[in-house]
Amino acid sequence: MFEVKPFDKAYHRKHFNSRSEPLNRYLQQQVSQDIRRRIAACFVALTPDKHIAAYYTLASASVLLADLPADIAQKLPKYPTVPAVRMGRLAVDEAFKGQGLGGALLADALARALNSEIAAFALVVDAKDASSAAFYQHHGFIAMPDSPLTLFLPLATASHMMR
Ligand SMILES: CC(C)(COP(=O)(O)OP(=O)(O)OC[C@H]1O[C@@H](n2cnc3c(N)ncnc32)[C@H](O)[C@@H]1OP(=O)(O)O)[C@@H](O)C(=O)NCCC(=O)NCCS
Repeated sequence: MFEVKPFDKAYHRKHFNSRSEPLNRYLQQQVSQDIRRRIAACFVALTPDKHIAAYYTLASASVLLADLPADIAQKLPKYPTVPAVRMGRLAVDEAFKGQGLGGALLADALARALNSEIAAFALVVDAKDASSAAFYQHHGFIAMPDSPLTLFLPLATASHMMR
């Protein structure tokens, strides 16, 4: 029913409504500029009539080793940071919620991060509130000990989960 494609201005997004005003506004007003400036890449789930039903953004990032849980950090080289991919935004239109689309886009983002030739230790996400954080935890993400709305999933773990 849905196709996942890189964002294109031609797709319908004017009435996109995820119930999060900042996430709606971002898709309607800012995403094209961020793509043009290479600040973020954006992928969308499209209905057959080219309406955006959901979207997410990806960008490269780094995570301070000291921010990771100690048991994970101690297995990593002692550089100050580890490379990561950040999914800065994920939103599903109200009309399509609860149908597996959020989970499908999360899997799509993990697959893109895993298939990249550029190494990254983890996919990092910024949850907008505790309910969003619960969505990511449901999918195996681990909260940063000192900032519970930032969560990560090691890509090695994701690779096992996706087999
Ligand atoms: C959070 C959000 C992306 C989920 O999308 P969705 O399409 O409704 O979710 P799905 O139908 O794909 O759910 C997939 C699984 O996650 C679970 N889930 C969904 N929302 C959840 C939540 N808030 N807490 C815990 N689990 C949740 C579902 O029960 C489902 O479980 P299952 O696969 O075991 O059956 C969507 O509700 C949304 O856009 N919210 C507003 C914006 C937002 O919070 N973005 C997140 C980061 S900023």
